[in-house]
Amino acid sequence: MKNKIIAGNWKMNKTRAEAEALLKELLPLVADAANTVIVCVPYTDLYSAVELTRGTNVHVGAQNCHWKESGAFTGEIAPSMLKELGVEYVVIGHSERRTYFGETDGTVLARTKAALAAGLKPIVCIGETLAERQSGRMEEVLTRQVTEGFKDVTAEQLADVIVAYEPVWAIGTGVTATDEQANSAIKFVRKLFADKYGKAAADALYIQYGGSMNDANAAGLLAMSDIDGGLIGGASLVAAKFAAIVHSYPSDGKR
Ligand code: 13P
Repeated sequence: MKNKIIAGNWKMNKTRAEAEALLKELLPLVADAANTVIVCVPYTDLYSAVELTRGTNVHVGAQNCHWKESGAFTGEIAPSMLKELGVEYVVIGHSERRTYFGETDGTVLARTKAALAAGLKPIVCIGETLAERQSGRMEEVLTRQVTEGFKDVTAEQLADVIVAYEPVWAIGTGVTATDEQANSAIKFVRKLFADKYGKAAADALYIQYGGSMNDANAAGLLAMSDIDGGLIGGASLVAAKFAAIVHSYPSDGKR
């Protein structure tokens, strides 16, 4: 049985001092976690986060990286820079980046491949908007995002990838997908990966749910057959709430 991977996406929140305070509060609360715990923090918090989590069970991720190794790309950060800091994971293609910063399936693919080449584990985000869901295009959008966004990612590389299904309409809105909505969308996504990489690889792939996941709804979502974890925004900024999500599966504390 898979454990769960619970990742916090702090987005553009927490100064360095605030990040240190949050991590110091969080670390003892999740020290005995049965699940994998990741915090994806702003670039300016990465160094502190890596130092503070050294020797603990909490892993550190960034929230984006560029696809080139170096060069004239003002404002961008190369995967190797993250790797050298001790960062293990990187969120790629979050819907906020797709919406506000021109991210496309093509740039998602490029960033994912660059992250993998540098030895980082990408957390690749996909998901439909409300309009797409309401017009019956959810499956079409997810199919495009997986087909284009993983075009020449190899089966071997896929083993280091986490996918996060984040319906855009559920992000930061307080509207969570129901357990069944999230599970059935993730089943559909898993089938797309099975068609491309085979059933064993698709079954082994971790697919998280993200979108208004919190300490009240996490247990139900994480108990679903295909939901392998969560990518948590707002609730990851409060140590007690994030720790409660980490501990909400398995509900009896055992695996
Ligand atoms: P919220 O948990 O704040 O809805 O954010 C979800 C998300 O976008 C995680 O990447």
